[in-house]
Amino acid sequence: MTDTLIAPTAADAPSTGAARLARRMERGAAFLGADVAIMAGAMSWVSERHLVAAMSNAGGFGVIACGAMTPELLDAEIAGTKALTTRAFGVNLITMHPQLTDLIAVCARHGVGHVVLAGGLPPKGSLEAIKASGAKVICFAPTLALAKKLIRSGVDALVIEGMEAGGHIGPVSTSVLAQEMLPEIADQVPVFVAGGIGRGEAIAGYLDMGAAGVQLGTRFVCATESIAHANFKKAFIRASARDAVASVQIDPRLPVIPVRALKNAGSELFTAKQREVAQSLDEGAVAMAEAQLQIEHYWAGALRRAVIDGDVEHGSVMAGQSVGMVTKEEPVADIIAALMTEAAEALDRRTR
Ligand SMILES: Cc1cc2nc3c(=O)[nH]c(=O)nc-3n(C[C@H](O)[C@H](O)[C@H](O)COP(=O)(O)O)c2cc1C
Repeated sequence: MTDTLIAPTAADAPSTGAARLARRMERGAAFLGADVAIMAGAMSWVSERHLVAAMSNAGGFGVIACGAMTPELLDAEIAGTKALTTRAFGVNLITMHPQLTDLIAVCARHGVGHVVLAGGLPPKGSLEAIKASGAKVICFAPTLALAKKLIRSGVDALVIEGMEAGGHIGPVSTSVLAQEMLPEIADQVPVFVAGGIGRGEAIAGYLDMGAAGVQLGTRFVCATESIAHANFKKAFIRASARDAVASVQIDPRLPVIPVRALKNAGSELFTAKQREVAQSLDEGAVAMAEAQLQIEHYWAGALRRAVIDGDVEHGSVMAGQSVGMVTKEEPVADIIAALMTEAAEALDRRTR
């Protein structure tokens, strides 16, 4: 009888790193309807049907980037994704899209289970409209106060994203947001941590801090299934962390949300665009909201130029600081497997 106290038995198995990881991901995975609590954050032009379906088919959670798509295009993209996977996936909508209500209706018609609202606080009625369709709403929480407000408004889950991330960014790092926010809100709704995650050890760390899961973007750009142009992928594979820099605001009267991208000649083009828009503001030719929309249209066009056309010199190569950890093109399933192994090994080491 005393043998059981010494010899490992099957009952000891749950204390392995893999079992600990599964336990820590259980809530997030159940919320997403996925095997693992890893979301591939929506990336305009990159997160279309192929990457999204590959992500969900590999056991993670893919999210379509609606970006500036019309309702008709979104309708086709959702239908195309459904043709490639029977697993759960989400749709990311930008709150300032002029046809947000119609886009929500398209998601509802397709029975999309999760809608992610990005680019600002949800406009009046949008949360209610999404929830009425039966879908879960996920929002980005830029500060603790806004996180609490969003929870009171009924969001089902939150993403906290640090300034290490690719694309539009806030001013605070992921590690600070996680320390400040997870202890206060992680027991109320599932919280997914994003920004600067390149390896599984970081995933294990954020799960230990109370995160329900994580969201990665940069790490999935060079997936074999990603339709990003070969030049775009090459630029990622060559780049190091310090090449991924935040855009600079040149005119204090025109607040622009910084965008993190690989530095190239396109950075100068953005400076010129800001001057042009600031001048239109001065001349009274456009109002502030319109000026900011013009800046967002500029980014959508510049990103398309790099992702689809492969012009990585003049287009915008949006990338996070984790880009240095992207070293080759590989299938989504291999990326997830590597992240899970690293996370499990990290949790395994916790016992020693
Ligand atoms: C090329 C690119 C495009 C992106 N486009 C969007 C977008 O359209 N909507 C959005 O909410 N986030 C967008 N993001 C942010 C990602 O969804 C994700 O939150 C971010 O990449 C996570 O940080 P990481 O890059 O450090 O992994 C984009 C990121 C990249 C790299």
